[in-house]
Amino acid sequence: MAEEEKIPLLKPYKMGKIHLSHRIVLAPLTRSRSYGNVAQPHAILYYSQRTTKGGLLIAEATGVSDTAQGYPNTPGIWNKEQAEAWKPIVKAVHDKGGIFFCQISHAGRVSNYDYQPNGQAPISSTHKMIPPQKELDDTMIEFSPPRCLTIEEIPLIINDFKLAARNAIEAGFDGVEIHGAHGYILEQFMKDSANDRIDEYGGSLENRCRFALEIVKAVIDEIGAERVGIRLSPFADYNECWDSNPEELGLYMVQSLNKYGILYCHMIEGRMLIVDDRRQIPRHLLPMRKAFNGTFIVARGFDRDEGNKAVAEGYTDLVAYGRLFLANPDLPRRFELNSPLNKYNKFTLYIADPIVGYTDYPFLED
Ligand SMILES: Cc1cc2nc3c(=O)[nH]c(=O)nc-3n(C[C@H](O)[C@H](O)[C@H](O)COP(=O)(O)O)c2cc1C
Repeated sequence: MAEEEKIPLLKPYKMGKIHLSHRIVLAPLTRSRSYGNVAQPHAILYYSQRTTKGGLLIAEATGVSDTAQGYPNTPGIWNKEQAEAWKPIVKAVHDKGGIFFCQISHAGRVSNYDYQPNGQAPISSTHKMIPPQKELDDTMIEFSPPRCLTIEEIPLIINDFKLAARNAIEAGFDGVEIHGAHGYILEQFMKDSANDRIDEYGGSLENRCRFALEIVKAVIDEIGAERVGIRLSPFADYNECWDSNPEELGLYMVQSLNKYGILYCHMIEGRMLIVDDRRQIPRHLLPMRKAFNGTFIVARGFDRDEGNKAVAEGYTDLVAYGRLFLANPDLPRRFELNSPLNKYNKFTLYIADPIVGYTDYPFLED
């Protein structure tokens, strides 16, 4: 297809030194199929199904330490065995010409004793516990009372992110995405609903963002700014994490990130609206998009039309798709042809099965 005939989502884009052939990104998706916190060989098929030449994929949240988990069977990247296990998966994506970033993550208090070494308390910015929450598949998850990190312990967690980033590069990933969204540990520090500290990591906006920015700096110093992105969700309220001034928080973060020359900022939209039976993205992120110097990625609630509009109007550079990409391994092709889409099955999102709800979503030609 000639360049000028392509829909906006299918136009090429240069992200730093990386040439992307289109703007449709695989959003990070926890799939709970990494037994014993080790990525499994069945992930080779799952990720390669969703790979296109020149397309960007972000791997599921991957733990930076043995205290990072909050869900069953999530992968880690804090030790050699885990890094080795990622290698064939990364290779499969590269063999098809994809670009693959690893989302490095720590759940903090979004966890319970069962996921912690020796059944200890999850760690957080606070002692405040999260009440039980309903998951997308309607299951309820319970949390345990967290232990508030002492100021002396904070550098250890920052170091875990740094080592995880190093391991990700050694496993072959093109870069890492620091998980600073959805109420996990970075947000537990950033947002005033969860941070009740009285030391230099609590109180003012600058203090609350210190932990996240120290992680950014440590990771960038370790692997280089051109290989680091971050995911942020100032407008979201997942896992009891919200902020009284999300716009100020988002702006402060992107302005600070500019100083580090981070490659991309991946932001979660506010709640989608339905107007005249059509979905409409509220576009809360415009001030952050304008203030940020690097590549901007948006996610949450986008479909083909809203994604095309967002790119055409300069609201974003790239659009990450979660549920649509999960259920449609050939999403870029379907968008190109404007074909019907498979629906995702909410009951198989997090089951441990290595095939069902994972690699058995049909392609167009099936
Ligand atoms: C099954 C599932 C797992 C998810 N896991 C992660 C994750 O590991 N890391 C993350 O940042 N977001 C995660 N998300 C959020 C998605 O990346 C995405 O932001 C969300 O689904 C909204 O986009 P969508 O409307 O295109 O689905 C997950 C979402 C789903 C449905």
